[in-house]
Amino acid sequence: MKAKITATAKYLPKRTLTNSDLEKMIETSDEWIKSRTGIEKRHLVGEGEATSDMGKEVALKLLKKSGKSANEIDLILVATSTPDYPVVSTAALIQDKIGAKNAWGYDIVAACTGFVYAMETGAKLVESGKYKNVIVIGADTMSSIIDYTDRNTCVIFGDGGGGVLLEPSNNDCGILDSILYADGSGHQYLTVPAGGSLHPASKDTVKKGMHYVYQDGKTVFKFAVKNMADVSKQILDNNNLSGKDLKLFIPHQANKRIIDAAAKRCELNDDQVLINVNKYGNTTAGTIPIALDDAVEENILEKNDLLLLAAFGGGFTWGSMLIKWA
Ligand code: UT7
Repeated sequence: MKAKITATAKYLPKRTLTNSDLEKMIETSDEWIKSRTGIEKRHLVGEGEATSDMGKEVALKLLKKSGKSANEIDLILVATSTPDYPVVSTAALIQDKIGAKNAWGYDIVAACTGFVYAMETGAKLVESGKYKNVIVIGADTMSSIIDYTDRNTCVIFGDGGGGVLLEPSNNDCGILDSILYADGSGHQYLTVPAGGSLHPASKDTVKKGMHYVYQDGKTVFKFAVKNMADVSKQILDNNNLSGKDLKLFIPHQANKRIIDAAAKRCELNDDQVLINVNKYGNTTAGTIPIALDDAVEENILEKNDLLLLAAFGGGFTWGSMLIKWA
């Protein structure tokens, strides 16, 4: 048995931050941001809005689109690196907010690869035959951990989330294959240094700005270009496919130059690659499900189309997933 996607949804908070807004805040330019990343604007949460609020909106849309009631949901998986609380899963908060009385769930932390990790987990649990209606969400409130005086990070990230409903497939459509990797020796290049058990929050950690995202952009860029391209090509090779067999490639949206490199490696044309980093920036675990919902809303995907997801993120973590659209 396979797991298939039966509904997609996304949520972007109302507030936006454009490149010209950033020009007024830090030493940067619209031209620099666009040419180095492809980003034009990003969305940011409002006062009091957290990851579970975005996840709730995504889950409610999934219920509406699929015609399911909250009671029918068995499991909620949430990929996020920005939970509402250090203790208490965002999945449990979403379970309560949508009234999914029969669901359990948990969070998965794999930075920008989180949604692909969570999809693999959700798909395998559906394939086990025990779970029939699984909500998989990727959402991050990056603005809660960004230093808006640090131009190395604040121009890149945005807030947002998306998700899918997974159900059993009774034909050959669904999640066909996946390849996932982790290499924790790269953890220091993209991290939030404090607030965990190694460096608990203290006056000193706050003073030193250790609760903000630290990124060695150049190193991350180098690994992202290589690993996201390699893992995309590897899954095609493993399945005796080439780029021309794909209807759509949905890569993690971090930087248009990283996406272009992966697309080139798989010999894809521009119309086979979904790029929306210009509109939303890098929403970490949110990028792939948001892009998937964009593709569905734009009527790009038809039954039996082959879709390739690929991601790279902090950890390091990376992976790809091949899906036959149901
Ligand atoms: O989500 C997964 C993880 N994240 C990523 O995949 C991000 C990977 N990294 C990147 O996307 C890129 O490395 C960045 C977009 C972060 C930076 O682009 P870059 O082309 O690697 O720039 P750089 O760090 O090499 O900096 C080039 C120059 C520097 O000036 P000097 O030293 O050459 O005078 C920077 O100080 O650009 C400067 N710079 C900026 N200038 C204007 C860095 N950030 C900015 C900025 N505006 N926001």
